[in-house]
Amino acid sequence: MSVQSVNRKSRFLAACAGQPVDTVPIWLMRQAGRYLPEYQATRRRAGDFLTLCTTPELAVEVTLQPVHRLGVDAAILFSDILLPLRAMGMPLTFTDEGPRLSPLDSAAAIDALRVLEPDALPEVLETVRLLRRELTDVVPLIGFAGAPFTLLTYAIEGQTGKSFVRSKRLLYAEPELAHRLLGKLTDSLIAHLTGQAKAGAQALQLFDSWVGVLSTEDYAVFGAPYVERVLSALRPLGVPLIYFPLGGLSLLPQVGKLSADVISVDWRQPLSLAQKLLSSQQGLQGNLEPLLLLGPLAQLEARVKRVLDDAPRRRYIFNLGHGLTPEIPPAHVEALVEMVHRLGQRPAHE
Ligand code: CP3
Repeated sequence: MSVQSVNRKSRFLAACAGQPVDTVPIWLMRQAGRYLPEYQATRRRAGDFLTLCTTPELAVEVTLQPVHRLGVDAAILFSDILLPLRAMGMPLTFTDEGPRLSPLDSAAAIDALRVLEPDALPEVLETVRLLRRELTDVVPLIGFAGAPFTLLTYAIEGQTGKSFVRSKRLLYAEPELAHRLLGKLTDSLIAHLTGQAKAGAQALQLFDSWVGVLSTEDYAVFGAPYVERVLSALRPLGVPLIYFPLGGLSLLPQVGKLSADVISVDWRQPLSLAQKLLSSQQGLQGNLEPLLLLGPLAQLEARVKRVLDDAPRRRYIFNLGHGLTPEIPPAHVEALVEMVHRLGQRPAHE
């Protein structure tokens, strides 16, 4: 395939496959969200965040907003990693302080959880179908889910964890029960991600936002094996699989053994260091410190250059080291996308 035809198809998918690109592709975690006034307007119309996630027309609208405003190279489905927990039987609300679930506090509560089928969460799958009709092949759609351990923390803590005492009590005091919960979460995630891919998602990302609280020894028992079960079950779907172990620098040697195509790297370490700890087969995504977007554009550009200089030549996708936050000015995000496309240009022979 010529470079041109690859580019007309999708820079993002070409980079995932290790094919040449005209310039470095970019998308941004939380590219749809509160920093955008148009998101705020749609969210007000929806009334609350969960209604926004589960009303396909509105979820489509907010998914497309950053694609139109920023010119990013991929869209990410507008949904949330906690929706599968709700579908498994855990009531969920979002408050000003973040998500709230009633925490699982017994073996009976864990045993009562439903395991999802691929057609669970029909509103989310409908959003995926509608989006594929709206998007061109140049801007593919990324589906996603939380990784098993990260979902365990929300199910056990009932909110974003602080000390993770409840979660760790389960791991150490009742390891069999922890494995039973992780098994149910894993089966549900495989079903939900399979549903998304069959509905049209062209890549899948697993967010392991809290895996950084695990020691290397515990990641080997409660983290990595379940992530690998998800990855290998999804492999036959034929879409690129991206894994984001936030705060997982010490875990990268184990992450390097996972069958993910691309590893999304947080801002804490240079990409070149991450690459050394991972497998040479794995592509990289990342890893600009998101809050640099609060500073002046000249500094931002210098730091973007440093990330690009440090990045691998092939199989590389620009992203942030974590998500955009509400305080970030949209004009700076627009400038970032322009910078990456201008500074990331690769000569055709590379
Ligand atoms: O643009 C996108 O990235 C797609 C949509 C998306 C959201 N959440 C929308 C959202 C994605 C991929 C997520 C993933 C997610 N959700 C993660 C993993 C990534 C990470 O941040 O580590 C986690 C841990 C969650 C759980 C979650 N959802 C929390 C802790 C919160 C509250 C904190 C916060 O940032 O407000 C949410 C709410 C949420 N999810 C918002 C958005 C746009 C803000 C809700 C609002 O409009 O009030």
